[in-house]
Amino acid sequence: MANRQHLPGHPKLTTAFVLCLLLGTSALSHAGDPQEIVKTVCAACHGIDGNSVDPANPKLAGMDQEYLMRQLKAFAAGKRRDETMTGIIAGIDPLDFSRLAAYYGKMTPTPGKVNDAQLATKGKALYDDGNTDSGVPACAGCHQPDGRGNARFPRVAGQHQAYALKQLADYKSGRRATDPLMTTVGKRLTVDEAKALAEYMAGL
Ligand code: HEC
Ligand code: HEC
Repeated sequence: MANRQHLPGHPKLTTAFVLCLLLGTSALSHAGDPQEIVKTVCAACHGIDGNSVDPANPKLAGMDQEYLMRQLKAFAAGKRRDETMTGIIAGIDPLDFSRLAAYYGKMTPTPGKVNDAQLATKGKALYDDGNTDSGVPACAGCHQPDGRGNARFPRVAGQHQAYALKQLADYKSGRRATDPLMTTVGKRLTVDEAKALAEYMAGL
């Protein structure tokens, strides 16, 4: 208290000065420098090279840039909801979305790992041919037989099982409402089919 009376306004001035510095540097580092944002914000979960280690966090490496960009916008708009990503994206300048998408899209994806070969074989049949009884279309028709995808249909090859499974469940429940086609596919899949598919896609 005594200090404040002796130096009126001083702490405030310091705070304002520090704030200016912080804002100044962050504005500088955000302009055309996605690497800085990746390092300080995204890498902890997605890796510096887009190959996440925790299977709950998707690999972003090698995914189409337009697709990644659409997802960032979908999180920002609330069309796709996730406890983690929704909050993080709220703190990112939308002007940086395309640079972040380009950064991760250019990285080389590491192969995924199949843990259950028998399950993956079941997944392959569904992936290639669908299930005519329940009206599940062949995944290969859109995501490509090798799972590499394109701007319209995302890469699913080598993706973590846990992440892929959550997406299929989110389409089914409507939590992820980014695309009517995948919502229809998700609604028609059983939990067992989704598990087999996730296992197969991890090995593509
Ligand atoms: C604390 C962990 C965490 C951090 C930090 C994080 N993410 Fe994510 N990210 C996730 C999770 C979990 C998901 C899956 C969300 C879901 O299930 O819908 C995700 C999903 C995504 C997706 C959608 C991928 C796809 O295949 O559809 C993109 C794009 C993405 N994150 C980009 C970023 C970028 C860019 C940053 C940094 C600005 C970032 N993330 C920071 C955890 C994180
Ligand atoms: C008619 C085309 C079409 C078919 C058939 C299709 N998909 Fe998709 N899929 C899409 C589109 C488009 C998206 C991206 C949607 C979005 O923006 O959310 C997608 C997204 C996904 C994702 C989320 C990827 C990510 O990184 O978040 C998974 C997983 C997936 N599809 C799995 C499958 C599986 C498994 C099948 C087969 C049972 C299948 N898809 C069939 C069009 C299709």
